Amino acid sequence: MSALVALIYPWVVFAHLASVFGFLLAHGVSVGVLFKVRSERTREGLRVLLDLSKRSLVWTYAFLILLGITGGVAAYLGDSWRQGWIWASAAVLILIALAMNWIGDPYFDRLRVAVGLEEPAGTRGVKAAQGLLPEIPAGEETLRQLRRSPRPWLLALVGMVGLAAILWLMVLKPDLARIGCSSVGISTEWACPDGW
Ligand code: HEM
Repeated sequence: MSALVALIYPWVVFAHLASVFGFLLAHGVSVGVLFKVRSERTREGLRVLLDLSKRSLVWTYAFLILLGITGGVAAYLGDSWRQGWIWASAAVLILIALAMNWIGDPYFDRLRVAVGLEEPAGTRGVKAAQGLLPEIPAGEETLRQLRRSPRPWLLALVGMVGLAAILWLMVLKPDLARIGCSSVGISTEWACPDGW
């Protein structure tokens, strides 16, 4: 590692960890909303919660991109690209973000339509006029069904297991090429099956 890289590297890691904190703080808004929507009884309350979560996604995405970029630069400077755990953690992060889109987006979109925060499909994403509910508001039964949906639990499970997996990869840096081998003592010696 050259002197310049040695100087920059800790600051890139600092920026990476700061982006992770920023991401977790920003996304905490949606996490809180996820657990509250099931018990919120009033439409106005649901509108406030869902709007808050939607607005926080701008920061969630901004910090997600930043943590990806700083993580990539840190891996490049630290010459970690050849290690499997880096690729595995990047893959897990992308998979979770995609799963959030597949599981969370349709559910939250339906809720936003049901409380009049967004127009139904076709004009999707367009906000209803401020303060107005749609002409035919969704019935209480639709809202009850959405509140009873298991999707929020699935979303929380995927997100939390994914976060734990990334933390495991980052902290323990497992030698993925050697999975299936057992370490001998606390040294770096490994007892691998034949053929490794
Ligand atoms: C590494 C972990 C995570 C990543 C990378 C991630 C990423 C994302 C992304 C990119 C979105 C936006 C999807 C869209 O545009 O529709 C999203 C939405 C969401 N995520 Fe996560 N997420 C993570 C963990 C979690 C956890 C642990 C929970 C809950 C316990 C959670 C709950 C939600 C909810 C409720 C939404 C929908 C927000 C809304 O539409 O208002 N996420 N997530």
